[in-house]
Amino acid sequence: MNTPRTKLHALPACLFLCLAAAFAGSAQAHGDTVPQAVDTHTLPQLGTQAHSTNPYRTGPANTEAVRIGSSAYNQNCARCHGLEAKSGGIAPDLRKLNADCGDAKSPDKACLADMDQYFLSTVQQGRTRDGRVYMPPFKEIFTQEAIWAIRSYVDTKSPD
Ligand code: HEC
Repeated sequence: MNTPRTKLHALPACLFLCLAAAFAGSAQAHGDTVPQAVDTHTLPQLGTQAHSTNPYRTGPANTEAVRIGSSAYNQNCARCHGLEAKSGGIAPDLRKLNADCGDAKSPDKACLADMDQYFLSTVQQGRTRDGRVYMPPFKEIFTQEAIWAIRSYVDTKSPD
């Protein structure tokens, strides 16, 4: 398993665009740039303990997780990570997260679990370096259920 990398190439464009996006988000009281809470009551509830892997990856809850995740992604992540998870270059292309885990149909399970952890913690904490917010933290806005739903949605997208 490779250690998840920081995508340095995303930085130059981001210095301006992401800050602009972040400020626009906090300044507006409407529209899709304000973080949107996600209704996850139709999913199996997970309790307070953080799961180490995506509990909705397989099984009957997957379809509902992808449905909720799709809407949550488009309202909260698409403005930086691109519509349909296809990055326009502002922020990393999330479809590529699993690229090192082998074949999409039978990926390395330990690798996928590491990516799950990386996904959960990145979304909860966001990314701030040297006082610059590259990505806002979502831990006050999203339940664990919401984050795993978004992960389930992104997993349905394969890189070009
Ligand atoms: C304001 C823009 C912005 C928003 C909104 C945003 N992100 Fe990010 N995200 C970034 C940037 C920029 C990076 C890369 C940061 C860095 O270089 O440290 C990043 C990194 C990530 C990473 C690590 C990717 C990698 O390849 O290492 C994940 C996972 C991620 N974001 C998921 C999300 C999800 C899910 C959402 C929505 C809930 C979201 N982000 C919302 C800008 C954003």
